[in-house]
Amino acid sequence: MTNLTQSNEQLTMFNTCEFPSYEEIKEAYTKGFERDVVNLRQELKNEIPNTTYLTHAIHNVYPAKFIPQVPRFVIKKFNLKEKIILDPFAGSGTTAVESILTENSNISNDINPITRFLIDIKTLTLNPRDYFIYKNQLNHYIETIFKTNSKFIPKWENIDYWYPENILFTLTKIWAGIYNIDENESHIKNILKASALYLSRKYSYGEDESPKLFKSKEKIIKIKELINKFNEMGEDLMKYELLKKANQYLECIIQFNLSTKREFKKIDSLDNNKQQFLMVFNNSIEKLEQNLPEEMIDCIITSPPYIYAQEYFRSTKIDMFWLDMINDESIRCLTKKEIGQKIKPFCDFSDELLRIESYRSTFETIKNLSLNFKTKENIFRFRSYFNDMLYFVKLSNRLLKKKGILAIFIGEPKVFGYPVKVKDIISEMEIQNNFRIKYTFFDIIKSRHLSKNRLNDNPEGIEGEWLIIGEKL
Ligand SMILES: C[S@@+](CC[C@H](N)C(=O)[O-])C[C@H]1O[C@@H](n2cnc3c(N)ncnc32)[C@H](O)[C@@H]1O
Repeated sequence: MTNLTQSNEQLTMFNTCEFPSYEEIKEAYTKGFERDVVNLRQELKNEIPNTTYLTHAIHNVYPAKFIPQVPRFVIKKFNLKEKIILDPFAGSGTTAVESILTENSNISNDINPITRFLIDIKTLTLNPRDYFIYKNQLNHYIETIFKTNSKFIPKWENIDYWYPENILFTLTKIWAGIYNIDENESHIKNILKASALYLSRKYSYGEDESPKLFKSKEKIIKIKELINKFNEMGEDLMKYELLKKANQYLECIIQFNLSTKREFKKIDSLDNNKQQFLMVFNNSIEKLEQNLPEEMIDCIITSPPYIYAQEYFRSTKIDMFWLDMINDESIRCLTKKEIGQKIKPFCDFSDELLRIESYRSTFETIKNLSLNFKTKENIFRFRSYFNDMLYFVKLSNRLLKKKGILAIFIGEPKVFGYPVKVKDIISEMEIQNNFRIKYTFFDIIKSRHLSKNRLNDNPEGIEGEWLIIGEKL
């Protein structure tokens, strides 16, 4: 509570027409918050050696993923063990991996179909004693894949735009070979799929340094060099890379298995389950209400999408096409439900939102600023975003047990150059919906990369991110 009051005082100056400088913003955010400023990496250096340890290294390109230190910090702070942890915006499954490693059960949900695949591979159960058997299997299947004569062509209309011809030919062959592997060998099949995703990104014209899928000049140059190498070495080049990646992923998975202390079960239904479990839903969050009973969750740890975020589907598109999860039409449908992009909220809480002081003042400012941009859509998106955030807070209240913890990790991107006080708005939403704010931490180290967009040309200008920890009353 104190923090919320302090922050409102500190930040009232942003309500004036004059925009503060970057330094002023930084000072206002950190002044009065000293005791709550954390460096999560530093804080957990003894437990988590780096952000890509164990299976967090697999497919480390998911947009706006948070570092494993975020869920681990919350788990440690509240000594969570043998509890049920939910991440409703699970993305690449960072919370799922940390929950399992700390002997907690996990329920993950994300609208993006790739989440299920990623969580599955990052928590694959393999017997460390059979390491050499798996290694040999990988070798064997990679040899077989390159002998295949079939082709797998993703349902992607302009796929030719993204690949040089001979590379595309080899990739379609690799993927066909992987799809031909028997389901009984699904562990090997999935490791190979994850490794082939790496190749499919590396050898595409899509910029792999950025979460967004676009053709960059630098990447075109890189691909030219790769084609020269490919012309010299032929398919052996890609065979070698596939094998190298697959072995690296196998080692991460074995290390993960060595680090889990208890056996856990992957389940599809919640009936009478007493053992440590892991469950994944692939839905928009409003479906969680039907899928989960009230008051079953001990702790929610999540990072919701950013306002105007437009990265999640666009940037995982390339992977989902190869994984045969989508086509051009289904991606359009999914995007319409993506929070941050939607212009129609799940539920209309307009009246309630206007009772949230920090929302009301910000909304007025954004509305005025949007006049310069002459587009109504942006303000609809803004309103829809906070309606959806309020929906999410209410949903959390319903799903959490009494005294359950709601930990939200969120940044404050600028909209029309204006730093939106997302942390204050969400904190107020929680207070009005049966939560008390226990802590608000400000992690000064940037944990993730966001891409530029029309309204926010300097997302990297974000100084850090907030971890808001509420407790259900
Ligand atoms: C900031 S990312 C979460 C990243 C995650 N913490 C990680 O470490 O990978 C936000 C996620 O919200 C998901 N999302 C967007 N709209 C959604 C919706 N309507 N329902 C469920 N998930 C949604 C996106 O697909 C994205 O994965």
